[in-house]
Amino acid sequence: MLGRNIISIADFSSIELKQVLDVSTWMKNNNIDPLLHGKTLALVFEKPSLRTRVSFEVAMQRLGGNTISLSSSEIQLGKREPVKDAARVLARMVDVIAARTHEHSTITTLGEYSSVPVINALSDREHPCQSLADLLTLREHFGNLKGIKIAYIGEGNNVARSLAFASVMMGIDLTIACPENYKLPDETMITIKNLKGDGSVSQTDDPSLAISDAAAVYTDVWASMGYEHELELRRNIFKPYQLNNELLSFAPNDILIMHDLPAHRGDEITEEIIESDHSIVFDQAENRLHAQQGLLALILSDFKL
Ligand code: CP
Ligand code: NVA
Repeated sequence: MLGRNIISIADFSSIELKQVLDVSTWMKNNNIDPLLHGKTLALVFEKPSLRTRVSFEVAMQRLGGNTISLSSSEIQLGKREPVKDAARVLARMVDVIAARTHEHSTITTLGEYSSVPVINALSDREHPCQSLADLLTLREHFGNLKGIKIAYIGEGNNVARSLAFASVMMGIDLTIACPENYKLPDETMITIKNLKGDGSVSQTDDPSLAISDAAAVYTDVWASMGYEHELELRRNIFKPYQLNNELLSFAPNDILIMHDLPAHRGDEITEEIIESDHSIVFDQAENRLHAQQGLLALILSDFKL
């Protein structure tokens, strides 16, 4: 994986994905020598962040490296200068770039023109780093990933797409429940069909059906960053998809509750569900740090377990 761009979760093979999880688990339980001493990460954010920013910075710090955080108002990717120029300039000065962008094409252009690895820290299309933490969390709770059933209730968005790819590759059976016009598009479902792995992804508009035999249920915001102006409209459309006691009455009693955060209580999830004993949302958040450490170690060094 040394030197690899991580633009999509599908940039990994199933074996590599397992390797990232294994190294991340190891990093969670062990202190290591400053593996990335002298290495610098440039973090570029066109959108707000808490978990992604802090997990990348702390991960670099724990591995002995440095981080430079750059906001979009500072570098104005694509406005002050073309994305391809910024990519080549950054690559002359740092060892890895992680970027959170509006358009997925900004990430792919960075990846194309940078001679150092580029990590997708969330784009409109995917959130691969979130999926790493989600897999790590699921594996901690269930022992392994193969054969577990997960429901995702909400928009077929960036988080859902990465989770879908990861599920196929790791042998998870994922059912997405989503209003008709917000499902993962056919083109994504074709990509899913062509991925190697034992898992499966299906889509329905019936959330009670999706959760009926699920070991965990995952939700995300109804309006992602950049789409907040559609929230009022979406509130009507997504109302039957709220994770609440009524919906959860159709689920197994021990179902686990997942959310990538930030959560909007009263929209996609109720206060009592996110605060329930079955909620593992803060395990997911913590695992962002361990997954980031595992990923950075593998793409910036020859670390082996
Ligand atoms: N889940 C996640 O990516 O959180 P942030 O937007 O706060 O980074
Ligand atoms: N789908 C959400 C995820 C936030 C971490 C968004 O893109 O805003």
